[in-house]
Amino acid sequence: MNVLLIGGGGREHALAWKLAKSPLLDTLYCAPGNAGIAAVAECLALDVVDHDAVARFCKDKDIGLVIVGPEAPLVAGLADDLEAQDIAVFGPSKAASQLEGSKGFTKDLCAEFNIPTAAYGRFTDAQAARAYVASHRHPIVVKADGLAAGKGVVIANTHFEAYNAIDACFSGTFGAAGAEVVVEEFLAGEEASFFALVDGDTALPLATAQDHKRVHDGDTGPNTGGMGAYSPAPIMTDALTKRVMDEIILPTVAAMKARGMVFKGVLYAGLMIEHGAPKLIEYNVRFGDPEAQVLATRLKSDLLPALLATAQGTLGGLTLDWHDDAALCVVMAAKGYPGDYAKGTEIKGLEEAAAEPDVEIFHAGTKQDGPRVLANGGRVLGVTARDKDIGAAQTRAYAAVDKIDWPKGFCRRDIGWRAVEQKK
Ligand code: AMP
Ligand code: GLY
Repeated sequence: MNVLLIGGGGREHALAWKLAKSPLLDTLYCAPGNAGIAAVAECLALDVVDHDAVARFCKDKDIGLVIVGPEAPLVAGLADDLEAQDIAVFGPSKAASQLEGSKGFTKDLCAEFNIPTAAYGRFTDAQAARAYVASHRHPIVVKADGLAAGKGVVIANTHFEAYNAIDACFSGTFGAAGAEVVVEEFLAGEEASFFALVDGDTALPLATAQDHKRVHDGDTGPNTGGMGAYSPAPIMTDALTKRVMDEIILPTVAAMKARGMVFKGVLYAGLMIEHGAPKLIEYNVRFGDPEAQVLATRLKSDLLPALLATAQGTLGGLTLDWHDDAALCVVMAAKGYPGDYAKGTEIKGLEEAAAEPDVEIFHAGTKQDGPRVLANGGRVLGVTARDKDIGAAQTRAYAAVDKIDWPKGFCRRDIGWRAVEQKK
């Protein structure tokens, strides 16, 4: 089967790396891909905003499955337009993508179907949002309703900070994404990322994972897309996994079906766990990045039939095998990220680092320039190792990181600290 993968980040490199091992795969195409993905897929420039052009490409190349990595094309309705032309797609429809595309949509769904989440209000004007803040305790959380590239959430430690965040949203900082604002209760606890493949009816949980959102060691500094991840997540016991399925994932799948917005793809629940009880922080309708890097590394089964069954509504009865080993991914980013950073700096030592056994260097933002590999984004590499436990995987990942010669890059030195401490 020929497959088209859409995206060009670390998540897509991990998916491409795993798909390339499938005996069912003929040719893997990736648009746009990156310097790392080019080793396992045919990368091409395809304007994914032009849905007709994508459909023409799929017909031309006899694509059996399109796998959409990032959320933006899904929220824009790419899956709907391809499926209308009988092209199978892994990823939800535009309507179902509202689970990520509109925080207010998801909060209302939770309220209606008793899915545990933070108390909230939805607002389309600043005055009402400010009044809600004034009548609630801080810290309090202010969110732009729509997609804001991970920048639309402010944890306000004072009412004054919350007012500023509200004003920033309504003054157009996030464009149309900030035309509506959700204000919600601050949840304390430990975060975990929960993933399930969903084919409309059946939901199959994947291995557990956690990421580190803050830029600096000790989980301090501004939020990022994720500076590292590990799997399994010690906090996600079997009992807690069952609770998340019963209280959050399965009610959501049923609710979406009841609303006529059948969900197909991967449902990614950002969870807050406090005193053993899970609450939903938010949904995403795609794999996490860098969580995909550790999940792909631990997955023993063939990924392609699982994604195909998800797209075709035939997940029932399918099981996935995972390596008992742990996996850990350290993200290397350009200095300055998540603020301003330079592009085009040279990265050396990639081959030496990749020569470490059970280490994969997933490229996130890179560009090939003749023999040289150049940084081409904020998050640039995901150095991922597998070993018998989380501590060993951490040691192995940092041994590989230390072989990479990139003076203009940086990484956290403590990825997995919570899990390593728990193990001790
Ligand atoms: P989101 O984009 O909604 O996942 O928010 C980004 C990050 O902000 C989350 O991963 C949490 O670290 C934090 N966050 C969001 N909402 C809350 C909340 N209600 N309470 C505490 N932290 C939150
Ligand atoms: N690692 C967080 C995300 O993918 O949104």
